[in-house]
Amino acid sequence: MSRGYFQHGGVTFPGLLYSPRGLEAARDFPVEDDDVFNVTYQKSGTVWMLEILSLIRQGGDPRWCRSVPNWERGPWLETLLGLRRARGNARPRIISSHLPLHLFPRAFFGSKAKVIYTVRDPKDVLVSLFHFSRIFRPYKDPGSLEEFMEKFLQGDVPFGSWFQHVRGWLQLRGRENFFWISYEELQQDLRGSVQRLCSFLGRPLSPAALDAVVANASFVTMSHNPMSNFSLSPAFILDRRRGPFLRKGISGDWRNHLRISGDWRNHLTPEQSRRFDLVYRQQMEGLGAN
Ligand code: A3P
Repeated sequence: MSRGYFQHGGVTFPGLLYSPRGLEAARDFPVEDDDVFNVTYQKSGTVWMLEILSLIRQGGDPRWCRSVPNWERGPWLETLLGLRRARGNARPRIISSHLPLHLFPRAFFGSKAKVIYTVRDPKDVLVSLFHFSRIFRPYKDPGSLEEFMEKFLQGDVPFGSWFQHVRGWLQLRGRENFFWISYEELQQDLRGSVQRLCSFLGRPLSPAALDAVVANASFVTMSHNPMSNFSLSPAFILDRRRGPFLRKGISGDWRNHLRISGDWRNHLTPEQSRRFDLVYRQQMEGLGAN
């Protein structure tokens, strides 16, 4: 099995799932005005938002989420298989993507299609991606967290720099068809976040339907749902013996303890955290996100 990476548009992609042809097809994807795009930098809550959007689409009824795998409900735009699924899905479609803005479908920019962009504390993204890289076979083994953090800060990881991804997408703030929200807001007030999403989507829900969305999009419910927890993923894609996809589902895990080779230590040491903050300030300057 190849674990090779390739570059496309200045961004790194793993060759096992992605191809230049697929990425070009994504760029030419025929967008419909009622499409809803679930966009994130990886490990920022993509499948959580996908679950929320699936439930809102179905008026809180969980049957779709319980019977169809999430990768069919909201297929990934950047793989050829995902594109095929997206083309075949009933409208209004939910389509997921980790693509940076400059590789997104050209047709989106002249359309009324909606983008929901979820952003997460990058230190938690780093920790989540570190663990994910150990179970997701298309990715190279991350090595130590120290080594991996440097790569992450340099953008030398699949899907490129977190900073550039966020800076790129947040340029769309203020557009009518762009909504951004943080993983942390979802954590703090899921019901209120779902209400805001409903109003952005023009899909108001009754209080009972809102409750159903909140209950069925919880970490525990999703962890027990084979259609949402990736237990149906083939072993050549996900090595679940090394850990679950839905790992912890908390904010601030970068402060917690990690056990590797019997050695307990902080996920990020105070020094690493300070270095991260420095790069963050340099990279995000002027964005109004500090
Ligand atoms: P952790 O690895 O920190 O647990 P993505 O879907 O973009 O790959 O993001 C995966 C991260 O979102 C994982 O973070 C996962 O546990 C978390 N997540 C998924 N569903 C969630 C939920 N319902 N509530 C909270 N976190 C969730």
